[in-house]
Amino acid sequence: MSDDLSAEGEVLSPSPLGGAELEFEGALRPESLAEFVGQPKAVEQLRLLLAAARLDNRAPDHILLSGPPGLGKTTLAMIVAQESGLALRMSSGPAISHAGDLAALLSSLVPGEVLFIDEIHRMARSAEEMLYLAMEDYRIDIMVGKGVGASSIPLELPPFTLVGATTRSGLLASPLRDRFGFTAHLEFYSHDELQSVLTRSSRLLGLDLQPLALEIIAQRSRGTPRIANRLLRRVRDYLTVHPEVDASSAAEAALALYDVDSRGLDRLDRAVLRALIERFGGGPVGVSALATSIGEDGETVESVVEPFLLREGFLVRTPRGRQATRAAYEHLGIAPAAQPPTLL
Ligand SMILES: Nc1ncnc2c1ncn2[C@@H]1O[C@H](COP(=O)(O)OP(=O)(O)OP(=O)(O)O)[C@@H](O)[C@H]1O
Ligand SMILES: [Mg+2]
Repeated sequence: MSDDLSAEGEVLSPSPLGGAELEFEGALRPESLAEFVGQPKAVEQLRLLLAAARLDNRAPDHILLSGPPGLGKTTLAMIVAQESGLALRMSSGPAISHAGDLAALLSSLVPGEVLFIDEIHRMARSAEEMLYLAMEDYRIDIMVGKGVGASSIPLELPPFTLVGATTRSGLLASPLRDRFGFTAHLEFYSHDELQSVLTRSSRLLGLDLQPLALEIIAQRSRGTPRIANRLLRRVRDYLTVHPEVDASSAAEAALALYDVDSRGLDRLDRAVLRALIERFGGGPVGVSALATSIGEDGETVESVVEPFLLREGFLVRTPRGRQATRAAYEHLGIAPAAQPPTLL
């Protein structure tokens, strides 16, 4: 079941896919804060932080970017380097599976480089501890030898700026979180903001779509620019094959074809809600039991599906687990009689 869902729900997956998809994303990625749509607060905060560092002629403070997939964390990390005129080195938590990996990475940085660690919550614990010292004092201690003969050699590092990205900031140890000078919490985008993203993307792709078509796509993009761009591409495909159709009908038809419903929920979102209602009586139920019941992994449900369902008011978190709201029953067309009496 999970394979079925992820294969068909792919168009709405907020996670990056491979090949052509990545190339497409790269082409549409804003390269400056001025081009970056939405997130006004985070953009303003970053602008100040970068300007101050530039005036003081020092490396900008360490920055943590947190938020659900596809909202612009990698894009902002690239912009930080670009706007500061600094080189960017990219790595990711899963690639740092022990402290030695991090030591090798840090000791090869050139002065002032921006080090981007994506999915920083997945870094090995031993590396995390090494990172505390590196962030604070630009120094690491390298352990040489084992047992009684072991000793540690201090190694000075060049000044650098760490940009960490995470979809699960709650999983970061607080000493690590505290060492970032600034944390930007990226929020889901409004329909208007997504429409601006789509207007920009259509221009870059040389597409001339009427505003209504962009509005239809924006409304169904789960508040996520990556999804908006991906849906735009499917609408472009539809128009290529059916040039006689007008753009907004093409948008409706393409989105229906890929199972994106009127509120932007995809098959996985609906599967989670349906399981919650039909198998667990609407909850409350723990997220891992919920995920297991549909053959999905708990991390995906928690970091990808749940934040959007929470924001749209289809789901609430209670101390005893996740609970479906009245809106979820209505959206799925499940009879109110099935609702437990205490529902919100
Ligand atoms: N503010 C924005 N304005 C315009 N386009 C954006 C914006 N944010 C993201 N995008 C588009 O969405 C795509 C995905 O963004 P990005 O890769 O930065 O997301 P992410 O937060 O790093 O996701 P993940 O958690 O999966 O790594 C980008 O390639 C870009 O085209
Ligand atoms: Mg990313």
